[in-house]
Amino acid sequence: MKQTLWIKLTGTVLMTTLATSGATGKSGTTAKTSWGKTPDGEEVDLYTLTNKNGVEVAISTYGGAVVSLKVPDRNGKLADAVLGYDSLDGYVNDKSYFGAIIGRYGNRIGHARFTLDGKTYTLAKNNGENSLHGGIKGFNKAVWTAKETPSPDGQALELTYLSKDGEEGFPGNLHVRVIYTLTDSNELKIGYSATTDKKTVVNLTNHSYFNLAGAGSGDILGHILMIEADKFTPVDSGLIPTGELRDVAGTPFDFRKPTAIGARINADDEQIKLGGGYDHNFVLRRNPGDPISLAARVMEPKTGRVLEVWTDQPGVQFYTGNFLDGSAKGKGGLAYTKRSAFCLETQHFPDSPNQPKFPSVVLSPGERYHTTTIYKFSTEK
Ligand code: GLA
Repeated sequence: MKQTLWIKLTGTVLMTTLATSGATGKSGTTAKTSWGKTPDGEEVDLYTLTNKNGVEVAISTYGGAVVSLKVPDRNGKLADAVLGYDSLDGYVNDKSYFGAIIGRYGNRIGHARFTLDGKTYTLAKNNGENSLHGGIKGFNKAVWTAKETPSPDGQALELTYLSKDGEEGFPGNLHVRVIYTLTDSNELKIGYSATTDKKTVVNLTNHSYFNLAGAGSGDILGHILMIEADKFTPVDSGLIPTGELRDVAGTPFDFRKPTAIGARINADDEQIKLGGGYDHNFVLRRNPGDPISLAARVMEPKTGRVLEVWTDQPGVQFYTGNFLDGSAKGKGGLAYTKRSAFCLETQHFPDSPNQPKFPSVVLSPGERYHTTTIYKFSTEK
């Protein structure tokens, strides 16, 4: 049964779709509000997806960003577990990629160039000598086309974007589709797909900054983290992988057993120093045959909130908000200081276009890029 209600709300048209399915017992709502205009005059909307447990995610068509994500603690109390801004302006001026879809290439490409079939492509250097997160105007600064889309799994929002041939230096018209689904099992599922008309490189991710005690509630050093990785990719001073896959055993990068994020974050370790904390790609263990595997699990002891990250990707960037300096005013006017959040960005390894031994990120015409990541929330006593 589907009902569409139009409600006139302080000059903004709010559309609420109430959908229930007798067969699955699935229920929830999706609401759309106008969120203002970009400096170029493009209209931006904010979609709020709610599941039957009252878990709520708000997604902006600007950058496809997860703006808020309200999840319960062990007593059922909701808190917003992601960093972000109260209004569109914050996202337009943002330099931290809060919540955004990252592309065409998540993380760094060394010397901002790569070669495909003998042709060298030059990208903008927006991170020292390197290219970071798609360039100067990456997918996080694009306005995406949104459509509510029926899904048996929950409330779903489809976002599409055409990244034109030559955009930020990348070859090929890339048609990108990202589907966010909020399930009744308190999962935010993200499906990324893309096709191209010229050979190119693709590595899409989401850059949510989590604090399971609530955004703006302090640092994340007491969160207990487990990462399903026996190896990580050490980096040079520009945070470009050296090409080595190094064992985590005996290093501060060993999160195979649940360990506090802060336990070794200031260790006297070359890689920790280069990252200013954790800012590294972990090589995920995959269960052969499983379409998707557990990558990481994080537990916040005071609230009992748990986040599990599931993915089909080979890597995850674990980043501890080392560059947050309190200068950007976040939601409710709060300053987000160093290490007040962590990111777990599922991905192919950084600089893969220049690293022949890393899994390939090349997409050719006729192929379809398709990947899935799930952020699953629960609680523990
Ligand atoms: C990624 C990078 C970090 C940093 C953040 C954004 O996680 O690895 O070095 O650039 O994005 O600030």
